[in-house]
Amino acid sequence: MKLGVNVDHTATLRESRGTNYPDPVVAAMLAEYAGCDSVVVHLREDRRHIKERDVFLLKESVGLPLNLEMSTNRDIVDFALMVKPNQATLVPERRREVTTEGGLDVVKNYKKIERVVKKLKSSQIRVSLFIDPLIKQIKAAGKIGADSVEINTGSFAEAKTSAKKKREVEKIKKAVSFAVKKGFFVAAGHGLDFENVLPIARIKGIEELNIGHSIICRSVFVGIVSAVEEMVSLIKR
Ligand code: PXP
Repeated sequence: MKLGVNVDHTATLRESRGTNYPDPVVAAMLAEYAGCDSVVVHLREDRRHIKERDVFLLKESVGLPLNLEMSTNRDIVDFALMVKPNQATLVPERRREVTTEGGLDVVKNYKKIERVVKKLKSSQIRVSLFIDPLIKQIKAAGKIGADSVEINTGSFAEAKTSAKKKREVEKIKKAVSFAVKKGFFVAAGHGLDFENVLPIARIKGIEELNIGHSIICRSVFVGIVSAVEEMVSLIKR
């Protein structure tokens, strides 16, 4: 099981005061030192946390693979083609949302997503699609030529009762096993934290978890090296 650490919220803190600290690039270097396997950032269309400068510097200075979460917006795609992250993860984006609210609807937006996937892949950028745990979305991701899928664990994380959580785990298990059969590298993420991660980490077939908010929040108290080390030991145990 690999861990991708999303350092967006280091930049959220920075932007809350318009300072030049804390720097997500430093966070990524320390996360690398603590044993994570990749660094994740989301360059949002409104640039509310991560900026172009961060992505450039991360690509130049962090030794780990860089996974750029992004919408299919033309300017963002052009930027990705210039920076060439190791992987682009396509996500839906709505201006007013607090965070990503659900998976991509690959079925409904097939043509647009297909165009972007082709462009990115022709620039040797691996492409992952962030989707809800639904067979029809995985089928569409296969047809479109994505290299990887990231299964949205948001509904699991938000489930209030243990019965609902169990149902969400079952849905994710089914989706993961179907995606593995289709030959995908399967990742999962969104809303995972130190308390809820284990039932997801135990699902056979998931090779990577991408986790941000909970790790950065814990790092406020214990430091990012300890926070990442703790998550690494939880999910690799
Ligand atoms: N995976 C994807 C595709 C995301 O959009 C996000 C949020 O940026 C994450 C994982 C990480 O979510 P969280 O910050 O809730 O751990």
